[in-house]
Parts: sequence; C-alpha cells; structure tokens
Amino acid sequence: MTADLTPTPVPEDDLEAFLRDLALAFGEEIDTDELAMLRGEAEADRTLGVRDDGGRFLAGAAAQTHDLSVPGGARVPTAVVSLLAVRSVLRRRGLGRRLIGALHEQARERGEALAALQASEGAIYGRFGYAQAEPTADLRVDVRRSALRPDAPGAPATSGAQDAAPSIPTPDQAVELAVGLWERLRDQVPGMAHLTRSRATALLTRERIGRRDAGPRQLLAVGDRGLASYRLHEDWGRTGPHHTLRVGWFLATDADAEARLWRELLAVDLVATLSARGQPVDALLPRLLTDPWAAEIDHGEGMWLRVLDPSAALAARTLDADGEVVLEVHDELGIAEGRWRLVGQGGTASMVPCRDTPDVSLPVASLGAALLGGHRLATLARAGQASEHRLGAMATLDRMLAWPRAPWCPIPLA
Ligand SMILES: CC(C)(COP(=O)(O)OP(=O)(O)OC[C@H]1O[C@@H](n2cnc3c(N)ncnc32)[C@H](O)[C@@H]1OP(=O)(O)O)[C@@H](O)C(=O)NCCC(=O)NCCS
Repeated sequence: MTADLTPTPVPEDDLEAFLRDLALAFGEEIDTDELAMLRGEAEADRTLGVRDDGGRFLAGAAAQTHDLSVPGGARVPTAVVSLLAVRSVLRRRGLGRRLIGALHEQARERGEALAALQASEGAIYGRFGYAQAEPTADLRVDVRRSALRPDAPGAPATSGAQDAAPSIPTPDQAVELAVGLWERLRDQVPGMAHLTRSRATALLTRERIGRRDAGPRQLLAVGDRGLASYRLHEDWGRTGPHHTLRVGWFLATDADAEARLWRELLAVDLVATLSARGQPVDALLPRLLTDPWAAEIDHGEGMWLRVLDPSAALAARTLDADGEVVLEVHDELGIAEGRWRLVGQGGTASMVPCRDTPDVSLPVASLGAALLGGHRLATLARAGQASEHRLGAMATLDRMLAWPRAPWCPIPLA
C-alpha cells in the first residue's frame, strides 16, 4: 500500500493524475474540458499529495492564490482550498488534518489573511476554524404563477436605460462581459474571489462543463451591466411542456439590470419552473414578484471562511458603524489567537494588539462567520458562539461588523 503518509508537493507532470485520482474520493470522473481547466489553475507547490507504492494518489489537497473582496471593496489575500480528499483505505488516521494544516502553514508564510473553501459536508470544517460565511438562497419560482410588480425596477415603464433591452451575446462576448462585470461587482459585493479569464472561458465556452442532463447553455446580456446563463431541462408532460430553466451565471451591477435579467428569464417559453441555486440571500427576484409566495426559498451553501490573520482581515474591511471594542480571538490550532483593540471611525478599522481585559471573546470560526456581514454577531452570541464581558460591547461590535450587501461568490471558484 503506502509506507509514507507525509503530504508532498505534486510535480507539474503529475497534476493531471492527481486530479483524476482524487476525483474518485468524491465518486466523480472529471471530463476532459474540466480536467484541462483544473490542470491550468493548479499551483504545483500548493498541491499536496500522498501516494501508494504504485504511484497512485490516495490523498491530497490543494490551495490557490486568490484575493477576496471584503465590505468596502478592498481585496484580501486568500488561500482558496480545494480537493481535500482521502481515499477510504487511509481515512480517519489524521491525514485530512495534516493536509489542511500544511496548506494553512503555506498560506501564513505567504501572508494570506484568509482561507476559503466550498465544503462537501457541513460537519467537517468547524474543527479547523472554518465557518459558513456566505449563506446563499436556492430559489425556485413557479413561472406560470409569477407576475412582476408593474413598478419594479427593470420594467419597460420604469427603466430609462438605453441599453435595457436584453441581447444574446456570443460565448466569447460573454467571457469579456463576465470578466469586466465580475471586477466591478467585487467593489460592491463582499466575499467574491478573483475570476481568471481562463476559468470564465472554460465555464462559458466549454459546453460539457456543468451540463449534466440539461440542454445547451444559453446566454443573456443587458448592455455591459448584466449577464446570465441558463439551460433548459426538458419535461414534455401529458398536459404540455413543463420545462425547468436552470440559472447558471447571474451577474448584474445595478438593480435595473438585475431586474431586467430576471424578467427575461421568467419569460422564456415552455418553462414551468425557474431554478436559481446559490443566489445571494438579498437577491431581488422574490421582491420583484406581485406574489412573493410564487418563489420558494431554501438555504443554500456558500463559501466557508477561516481567518488566519484577524488583524489584517479586519483592518482591510470597512466597518458599518463607529465603535471601540477589545476583542479576544481563540483558536484551537493556535494560528489566529490573540487580543486586539478594534477601533472603528468613519468606516475605517484599526486593530492594535493589546493586553487589556477583553470586551468580547469568540472562537476564530465565529469571526469568519461574521467578517463579511453574512451572519450577525448578535445571533452568534445568542447561539453561544461569542461571549460578552462588558455590557453593550456585543451590540457595538455587531453593528460595526454588519454590512448592507450580502456576501456572495456568484460562481464557486476552485
Ligand atoms: C473529509 C476527508 C478528507 C477527511 O479525511 P480523514 O483523513 O479521514 O480526516 P482525519 O482523519 O484527519 O479527521 C479529521 C477530523 O475530521 C473528522 N471528520 C472527517 N471526515 C468527517 C466527516 N465527513 N464528517 C464529520 N467529521 C469528519 C474526523 O472525525 C476527525 O475529527 P477529530 O480530529 O476532531 O477527531 C475524507 O473523509 C474524504 O476524502 N471524504 C470524501 C471527500 C470529501 O468530502 N472531501 C471534503 C472536500 S470539501
């Protein structure tokens, strides 16, 4: 089998085998287009593997160099962790923990203040200091019951925009649009990692990626302000067509473009149900409908965050309220442990290490949950995930960390 369980960097030439072998831990087979995309994005020195004696990879994990938008639009250096996998024969021997520990160590050496990932199961990552930081909404709309409010943004009567009529871009035009829109959206929306042109190209021009059992990818644009992609899932029922329209990409930099896109998607022929998974919790769609019950909303899973450097992460973001709080962070893994005086003035945050009595203490996972404004600290405190030691300090910190725009990463990255 394998004698040495030490994770080591995967040489460039073996990256493809690594990706193929580890996909098996997820029960998946990677198709050639996706393999090419992941191969192109992999960073060999941040891709760690463990092999058996025959050279097959039985365990591994990878990180990519990214930056994440935080409230106010600043970008924070971030390790996006992916592909953590241990094949069943080596499971529950501490290898997963070793792999993630090694990636954290590399991230700290590179000065990355955050680690982020997409979790396969909710019970795995809390022990490593991660928390769900960008809750999402899975929207399902009964199209035939849904009418849009006549006074909603994006209505022909209310939209004064010249470029308001949606058009159908070519895949190459969509790539250009996506890359530009993404960067502008990052100024407004916290929690967005970097989108590379190569990933946008693969996801918008390679037909098989994300196709599953649906029809071809179709595209819609509103000037240079909005882009959506969708696929139809056919259902020719006995009583006529009941297709499902599955939304893929959805990027809009203003409310008019957002409403225009939803309006157009709801008007696609033959469709009974619109399904838009992984939308931000403040998506406008349910609020645009005359009957909000036409939209069913389920909790979705967004990005999980692990704060590696509380001082850098907090000082980078804009605060929503002024205040002063001595904050103590506990970290079982010892990476982000410390005490700071957080002062917020005019939106700017300063974090100064101190030895003063803490006003609020919390585990590092709670800091990750609240950092982007995705969870209210006051709620975490009620759930026993943060403690107040000075009356009123929790409410102050809760207001400082809140943010009007929900954190969201429109496309899972890595
Ligand atoms: C998740 C996975 C990588 C864990 O690897 P592993 O080597 O068995 O993990 P470890 O032995 O280091 O266990 C670390 C801890 O996580 C816990 N754990 C591991 N997998 C878990 C799971 N699926 N649910 C809950 N807890 C889990 C272990 O009990 C252990 O807890 P402890 O250290 O507090 O006692 C492995 O089970 C796997 O490859 N799963 C399938 C692919 C997958 O889901 N990967 C995650 C991608 S986001």
